[in-house]
Amino acid sequence: MDEKLLQISELRKYFNMGKGQILKAVDDVTFHVNKGETFGLVGESGCGKTTVGRTIMGLYDKTAGDVIYNGQNVHELDEKETFKFYRQMQMIFQDPYASLNPRSTVKEVIAEPMEVHGLYPDKKEQLDRVIQLLEEVGLNRDHANRYPHEFSGGQRQRIGIARALALDPDFIIADEPISALDVSVQAQVVNLLKRLQKEKGLTFLFIAHDLSMVKQISDRIGVMYLGNMVELTASDSLYENPLHPYTQALMSAIPIPDPDIEDTRERIILEGELPSPIDPPSGCVFRTRCPYAMDVCAAKQPKWQEVEKDHYVACHLYDGSSSENNRPEVNIGKKPVQS
Ligand SMILES: Nc1ncnc2c1ncn2[C@@H]1O[C@H](COP(=O)(O)OP(=O)(O)OP(=O)(O)O)[C@@H](O)[C@H]1O
Ligand SMILES: [Mg+2]
Repeated sequence: MDEKLLQISELRKYFNMGKGQILKAVDDVTFHVNKGETFGLVGESGCGKTTVGRTIMGLYDKTAGDVIYNGQNVHELDEKETFKFYRQMQMIFQDPYASLNPRSTVKEVIAEPMEVHGLYPDKKEQLDRVIQLLEEVGLNRDHANRYPHEFSGGQRQRIGIARALALDPDFIIADEPISALDVSVQAQVVNLLKRLQKEKGLTFLFIAHDLSMVKQISDRIGVMYLGNMVELTASDSLYENPLHPYTQALMSAIPIPDPDIEDTRERIILEGELPSPIDPPSGCVFRTRCPYAMDVCAAKQPKWQEVEKDHYVACHLYDGSSSENNRPEVNIGKKPVQS
């Protein structure tokens, strides 16, 4: 039986931009993460992924909804409980340049969370622990006294991972940990994260915009568009049977190694610009770019519904009993082409 470690319900995070303008960075996101799994959160730039991560961590106050971690409401913790919570959940930040203090040595960067939490007061033990962490992420003791700028992007990301591991957390939010890296280095960092997960029984929320990479690492995947979760299911199911027109468009953009399939499949090009989260479309936020948009899509926000077992989608195409007839049949090359 899966144990739900993190539960997010109808989470909203709005930013007040002044002059009466409200930016809806996250507007209705519901999902859970099971203990020990990797949940991938994908969607194009600006759709609200980082804001979801930061709001889960309590780095942003929520506008509405709930974040429940291990039975505790994260946004209702007092100072002492928050302090404890940070020993359980850590974040690897999107930009390793910005998140590592350039004036601190690698040793200081990694030891800082331990000092804040009063772990390893003995300096020798602290250094041993730092070296152990460096070795766990594929670096070594010679790196401890160097500064972040002396490292490559991939190495810097390893330092960020070592720092996130310093408090021995159970849950890690990894915000695009590989996006800034070369493809060959990406695979190394993904393998490192997978190995650490196995060894330490970690649970991951893995944020990315590259679907092919997310598939390799995730057990289940949630797809976001303009602050909304639009589809959620097991990784294989999302690739073999994407239901939301936005997911289908994303999938159709991933090249397929088999040239026979690659040549015949449809590529869905989304028309129009991504709308602004300050003035999102009424009803379904995707309707302005959706090839199947109907009248109801402008009038009503689609419900978040379980269309197949463990397969959730927010789309009017799947409303009611007649939905089977409405389903878009799109050949995006995931299955053999039928004539
Ligand atoms: N602190 C903030 N104040 C105001 N607006 C913000 C803030 N943080 C994010 N936003 C806005 O919220 C929206 C979602 O941003 P977010 O950084 O969560 O997107 P993202 O999906 O992580 O994008 P990317 O893939 O580029 O990292 C964007 O329109 C962004 O401009
Ligand atoms: Mg981001």
